[in-house]
Amino acid sequence: MATTSSNAASSSTIDLAELADSYRTIRAFTTTLCEPLEIEDMVAQSMPDASPVVWHLAHTTWFFETFLLKPFCPGYKPFHPQFEYLFNSYYNAVGEQFTRADRGLLTRPTVAQVRQYRESVEGCVNEFLAAGRFDDAASVRATVELGIQHEQQHQELILTDLKHLLSRNPLAPAYRSLPDVAQSSNGKAATNSVATAAPIRFVDFPEQLAWIGYDGDEFAFDNERPRHRQFVEAFGIANRLVTNGEYLEFMEVGGYNRPEYWLSMGWSAVSENRWQSPLYWTQRDERWCEFTLDGIQPLQLDAPVCHVSYFEADAYARFAGLRLPTEAEWEIVASQTPVEGHFAESLRLQPGPAADSGPIEQMFGDCWQWTSSPYIGYPGYRPPSGAIGEYNGKFMCNQYVLRGGSVATSRTHIRASYRNFFPPQARWQFTGIRLAK
Ligand code: AVJ
Ligand code: FE
Repeated sequence: MATTSSNAASSSTIDLAELADSYRTIRAFTTTLCEPLEIEDMVAQSMPDASPVVWHLAHTTWFFETFLLKPFCPGYKPFHPQFEYLFNSYYNAVGEQFTRADRGLLTRPTVAQVRQYRESVEGCVNEFLAAGRFDDAASVRATVELGIQHEQQHQELILTDLKHLLSRNPLAPAYRSLPDVAQSSNGKAATNSVATAAPIRFVDFPEQLAWIGYDGDEFAFDNERPRHRQFVEAFGIANRLVTNGEYLEFMEVGGYNRPEYWLSMGWSAVSENRWQSPLYWTQRDERWCEFTLDGIQPLQLDAPVCHVSYFEADAYARFAGLRLPTEAEWEIVASQTPVEGHFAESLRLQPGPAADSGPIEQMFGDCWQWTSSPYIGYPGYRPPSGAIGEYNGKFMCNQYVLRGGSVATSRTHIRASYRNFFPPQARWQFTGIRLAK
């Protein structure tokens, strides 16, 4: 890094108070998200991919304990000797891990004890940052920043894992009441007959040698670097996301039963899982509805289709005679677009229709957008050394890149160069479709 030591020293004292502030704000938002929950909601696990809420509360605390307090805070005493093992997600360099699929069996520590764990570690982090005596200020700052961003990733997972859990209950419980959900773009209450979106328009971009990846001074994950050039042919990008109404047309022509639209692995996934609609869609009196964090609601035709796999996104694009964007195409567009949309801070928690008021909309927030790009390292990418090197790098196989964030992502977490990644069959995140040509 090319910062001079005098610069680093002066900026470190100023930024530290800000950093400690943002640490407290982000930690408090996790608590806000848990406010509507009962103890029972917090311990169950609905599938191996999802974790109980209480596990997320403990693991994000574990992260600060393991990567900040233990290495950097002299004399720190771990809260509990076995928590290192219980709440280690996947870091082999830290040690063995409790089986992921069994996280729902951890009725102990109790939720109350995990809350004490959070408070205890938070107290230590606050004191440590307030005292401001570190040998390696740059590493301390980087670790706190990473811990904050990590907490935000788990806030999104709390919402998606909880949605999956509640969806499995025949009572279809609401997590909270979401007043904006039943509101379509024309201001009318949504039903599945009235609101439709204006047709998709394509915005053209010329061929170019584009700079891709992060080059700013703020936080970015290792997988957003190094910034590098990539030649991109001329392309067109859709001005908004694909809507529920448009996706229904694909279903009505028998999309889920016609192999010609599907990749081979997608067709296998459709057959094996008997997919006939996006996750959370359900019919009531022959009308399409969807399970939301506010229970079952009528499907809003002008809202973006959500909770589709890469395979469904790809099949829809083929049906439409179009394709998914590459991540480089997406980033070229996004780097010229303001970061606006529906994000987690608003607690809207359900993707909304495009306002149809700008040239390109819904690049950020609402739904993560599947790209056709495999999740691999950029040219010259090397994971950081040590356990933190396991954060992103070791997952660079058999996953696809998603861009833009969702209604469950915080506005302060997302940027044009941000790379999310999931396996192509994953549907429980807020994932949608932007078309390209
Ligand atoms: C980037 C969302 C795939 O879910 O494992 C959480 C985020 N990384 N803790 C994941 C993450 C470390 C990650 N995803
Ligand atoms: Fe994690």
